[in-house]
This record gives sequence, C-alpha cells and structure tokens, in this order.
Amino acid sequence: MKVLIATVKPFAPAAVEGIKKELEGAGHQVVLLEKYGSEAELLSAVSDADAMIVRSDKVTKDVLNAAKNLKIVVRAGAGYDSIDTAYAKEKGVVVENTPGQNSNAVAELVFGLLVYAVRNFYNGKAGTELKGKRLGILAFGNVGRNVARIAKGFGMEVSAFDEFVPADKIEAQGVHAAKSRDDLFETNDIVSLHIPATAETRQSINYDVVNKLPKNGILINTARKEVIDEPGLLKLLAERTDLKYITDIKPDADADFQKFEGRYFSTPKKMGAQTAEANINAGIAAARQINAFFKDGDTKFQVNK
Ligand code: 3PG
Repeated sequence: MKVLIATVKPFAPAAVEGIKKELEGAGHQVVLLEKYGSEAELLSAVSDADAMIVRSDKVTKDVLNAAKNLKIVVRAGAGYDSIDTAYAKEKGVVVENTPGQNSNAVAELVFGLLVYAVRNFYNGKAGTELKGKRLGILAFGNVGRNVARIAKGFGMEVSAFDEFVPADKIEAQGVHAAKSRDDLFETNDIVSLHIPATAETRQSINYDVVNKLPKNGILINTARKEVIDEPGLLKLLAERTDLKYITDIKPDADADFQKFEGRYFSTPKKMGAQTAEANINAGIAAARQINAFFKDGDTKFQVNK
C-alpha cells in the first residue's frame, strides 16, 4: 500500500525515520510531502495514496475526492477538527487519531508560556511566581491531566472541570473538581484551555465567561483558536487592564490583540506538539495503526464510526 505523509509542519527527522521503518517493515511504500504550499500539491500527492498520515493538515472534501484509493487517514495527534470526518465516513474512509501521544509536550508548553507571562515577558520588572496560585484546567483529557501533574510540581492549587468526566474521577487524580465551567473561571487565577474545537465549543470562551476570572487573571490557550470568541475577548481586554491572554495559536485578529502589549502573547507558530518526542510518539503510533488496519482491519482509534 502507498502511504502518504503529508505535513505542512514537518515531523522531526527522527520521527520520519521511525514512521518509515514501521511502514516499510510491513511492506508498504512511503511518500513524503512536507511544507507544501498549496492544496493543489496535496491533491496531486494524494491521488494514488491508500493511506495518509497528517498533522493539522486540512483534509477537505476536495482532498478526499482526489484520493481515489484512500482507505484510512491517521491524524498524528489529538484534534481532528481539520478533517472532514463526516464526508470521509460517506466515502468509506476511516479517520483515526493518536490520543495521548503528544499530550506531555503540549502540557509542558503551558508552563513555558505561564512562567514567561507571570515574569512579565522577561522585561526586567518583578513578576510573580506560580507556586500557591490557583490553576483551573478546562477539560480533563490527556493534556489536562498532564497539566495537573506538572502544576502540582510547581506547588499550584489545581482544579479542573470537564463536562464529560465525573467529579469523582477528577478528585481521584488529587485535583479539585470545579462545579461548573463558570465556577472554574470564578475560582482560579489562571485558566488553561484543553477543549477540542467542536460545534459546541466554537467561540464558547466568550466575554462573559472570561470576565469571571478574578483580578489579574490569566487565560492560556494551547487548544484551538476557534474556541475563542475573539471580538468578545478583545472587548474584555480593553475593559479589564488586569487580564492577560496567552496563546499557542495565533488568533485571526492577532493585529488587534497585539495592541495589548504586555498582556498578550502568541507563539509565532503553534508549538505545543513540536518536540522530537511528541513527533516520534504520535508518528510511530500513526504508522502502527495503519499497519494494524491493513493487516487485521483494526479500527480501534477510529473517530468517524
Ligand atoms: C493536537 O491536536 O494533537 C495538537 O494540537 C498538535 O497539533 P499539531 O500536530 O498540528 O502540532
């Protein structure tokens, strides 16, 4: 089978090597398309592929229509909002993700960004420490749980809210279970977002919710830009000069956010999962899932059943 690795944002070389080793070892042919500049390039590369490994690459209707032989797409990572999963299902294409494989990398970046933020972006002025601060984690999945683990090392007080995870499961991890999303925002100094981008969550982090943060609150987003109501957050940042917004995903209205210098920071490119370890874990998991699919029809990680 022909497996296309299509990544605008390439994997670390060691991950590509590992993926090739797995797939070629199982008798598959690997084609690499990195840093492509247009969808046209992807359409041409995918035309004879039986399987695809992608990151946040957009797998649209056009891509799925161009891929006449495609049977499986594996998103090497957690979020699959960049894939038209419903259309893939219509076309009989299995879509999978590799949950948990890159979550530690994202969780570590939360703290890289937080230290930078509470130390005033290293401008020389006295900042604050994370120890003793209250951290609220919105969504207690693989990333959220890693964030909780690291936060405890910093000596933070950790709470979480996840509408799909019962309070006793959260408490079992030694984390306080907030009563609701509003409660999480009201009772924490910092709120870290780990919700996926879905029809329900898009623009759900709005003016009213973020305004519940106490004085000097920080909102940190290493999830998706789509979950933010950007006009609402811009309005709030203008009104509340005590708030900070830190993100690993540049907002559409980045230029407007830039006006809040000293209270806003975005990484130039999404860096959460950009570690050799995360690339290797997620990439090799993706390759193994493709092997298992072709060998045994295994669809354990299918997200479009
Ligand atoms: C994910 O959903 O796995 C993370 O957001 C990482 O995405 P990336 O592979 O595009 O860096």
